[in-house]
Amino acid sequence: MDRKYLICENVSVSDTGRLLFAGQDTCDLAQQYGTPLYLMDEDRIRNRCRIYLSAVKQAFGEKAKVLFASKAASFKRIYEIMNEEGLGIDVVSCGEINTVLKAEYPLRNAYFHSNNKTDADIAFAMDHGIGYFVVDNEEELLAIQAQAKERSIQQKILLRITPGIDPHTYAAVSTGKVDSKFGNAIETGMAEAITRLALAQDSIDLRGFHCHVGSQVFDSDVYLRAADVMLSFIADIKQKTGFTAKELDLGGGYGVRYVPTDPSIDIRENIIAVGKSIAEKCELLGIDIPVILFEPGRSIVADAGMTLYTVGSVKKIPGYKNYVSVDGGMTDNVRFAMYGSAYTVLPADRTDRPFDMECSVVGRCCESGDIIQNNVMLPADMKRGDILAVLTTGAYNYSMASNYNRIPRPPIVMLAQGESYVAVKRESFDDIVRLDV
Ligand code: LLP
Repeated sequence: MDRKYLICENVSVSDTGRLLFAGQDTCDLAQQYGTPLYLMDEDRIRNRCRIYLSAVKQAFGEKAKVLFASKAASFKRIYEIMNEEGLGIDVVSCGEINTVLKAEYPLRNAYFHSNNKTDADIAFAMDHGIGYFVVDNEEELLAIQAQAKERSIQQKILLRITPGIDPHTYAAVSTGKVDSKFGNAIETGMAEAITRLALAQDSIDLRGFHCHVGSQVFDSDVYLRAADVMLSFIADIKQKTGFTAKELDLGGGYGVRYVPTDPSIDIRENIIAVGKSIAEKCELLGIDIPVILFEPGRSIVADAGMTLYTVGSVKKIPGYKNYVSVDGGMTDNVRFAMYGSAYTVLPADRTDRPFDMECSVVGRCCESGDIIQNNVMLPADMKRGDILAVLTTGAYNYSMASNYNRIPRPPIVMLAQGESYVAVKRESFDDIVRLDV
């Protein structure tokens, strides 16, 4: 097999041509736990957390924070790991908050996002001691003020600001432009208006501002520009209202390698560059450097994940196309169906065979759009019973999984220090029917 397919350092091949993940034999793991199967390399996740934390501390000092954007992968064990690694977290729903609580992760270190928090959401989060709300709009701000007052607390918040930057990624994950369902644009005056409104509330403790320009971003200049715009806004607000923002959250979004042609980003180098630029800009504007936060999701967990499937059939339609059907599909990985996302697909066994068959790798759902990947090169002798691996599935795969066609979701097996253990059990048919009355 061409070594270019080994797109992350935790993917390798044994002497006997078997695909290894985190040093463990993927065929053995498939045999032991069954397929479809999500694997997660815990050592890799911890390593990414440490790189982020040490980079932000080097760039911005001890107070800087890294929040794991847990929409990328939300289950109890991940919050335990984040707690052990000293990361804050970003949550977007009470479902995520409840998982956080069950993991005994301290909710005071959590930031609650989302563009529409209901009154019940706000109450649930406050009653359990949420650290911060990242407030999206004026109605929400007033709802939080009312509930904070009722409880006689000062609620810490950040305001979500739209800096008006195009991150050059796919539309579904582009959030920093003025025309966005998220946040308050500086350009339209909405950002200033909501800041003034927040400052006028007696139960709101406005700590600073947040922005998130998009996801799967490779252009590092995007962060420099976002920081630049946000700091100018902070200086402007200070001059107009006297309010000094203590925190600036620059969001998440750093891209990861799904296929060999994707670049690889040096997170530390990038963050240090953002640090330098922020220091210079603050000096120029005559403002103190706020506490800086980053909110990565994908770049912490994506390449720590791999999905294993068993091939059910290899259909070669003469004059047309070849289809390799696997025992999972859009129910455990909807990203190709939703965004046309690229993935690297490899056989788990006998990787030394020539990859001489072009095919579509498809799922088992009753829908033609149930495709994991098109134009994949695989060995022509692939057959029923072979194991296939899809790389880089640690972000937004399990968290976006569904029960379409009443297909149970796969388990998550963690790989740590040469051992493996179940972090999320395989869903059963009875689990799926449990809520039916
Ligand atoms: N912060 C905020 C406010 C966000 O909205 C997001 C992602 C992040 C942080 C983390 O971004 P990351 O570092 O993971 O790129 N389902 C899509 C991704 C949606 C991203 C939503 N927001 C996908 O599968 O590509």
